[in-house]
Amino acid sequence: MYGSSAILKNLIGSKLAGGMISIVQVNVPEIILALDVASRKEAENLLNKTGDQLQWVKVGLQSFLRDGPDLINLIKDLGKKIFLDLKLHDIPNTMAKAMESLSNLPVGMLTVHTSAGEEALKRCVQTGQDLMPDTLLLGVTVLTSMNQTALHSIGVNGPVLDQVGRLAKMATNTAIGGIVCSPKELLHLRSFLPQNTKIVTPGIRPFGSDLGDQKRIMTPNQAKHAGADYLVIGRPILAAKNPATALDEILREINS
Ligand code: C5P
Repeated sequence: MYGSSAILKNLIGSKLAGGMISIVQVNVPEIILALDVASRKEAENLLNKTGDQLQWVKVGLQSFLRDGPDLINLIKDLGKKIFLDLKLHDIPNTMAKAMESLSNLPVGMLTVHTSAGEEALKRCVQTGQDLMPDTLLLGVTVLTSMNQTALHSIGVNGPVLDQVGRLAKMATNTAIGGIVCSPKELLHLRSFLPQNTKIVTPGIRPFGSDLGDQKRIMTPNQAKHAGADYLVIGRPILAAKNPATALDEILREINS
């Protein structure tokens, strides 16, 4: 059982040139199951199988548009925390009003697009503080489905990493709680973002598992050492013969 894994620390000793030992603290990230399933029934079955060791569940547009607040309340009743991944993106007033509409739901994390701009993010941060004080507001930077060519086609000519860094910096200047990024961007963002910024990353594949459509991946342990606070994992757990065992193996890996 690894229920309070977020507050566990791994202490790693590393030898310096002069023979001194330095102790580096590495956070053990929490696992978020991406509940990408075809029906509410399937969601319920799966959550009953994963048991207490799973604390966080990510609900995306597909499931929320199909099942609505009922699904959120069902997950809450099963004792899980909810990451509502709606990636809100609109004019500032509409984003704030959308958050207002969500504010009576038991949501632990919510995503907005940082490319909506600084004014929109400030409004969302303020709305969060006023109406959803227990919800961690996360800014999505560049979607992992966008590569250099796709960015170029929407008028962004610099490297992807620069755009991710620019958006993340702007977002954290508005006091947003965290950032969603690819694991390959973790080290770069950790080098300059405020230390208390939470970083959530999908694109996680345990060693030897099927990549599916994910291209820029890391193993759970690599993402942990690169500075992730939360790992979003879907298919490696959803498609496993025994989802509880698959989750347990991942928890063992990051706690070892
Ligand atoms: O099945 P898999 O582990 O690839 O699931 C990853 C989850 O994270 C999916 O719900 C996917 O939509 C989401 N996601 C992603 N890349 C992003 C943002 C979200 O894979 N940049």
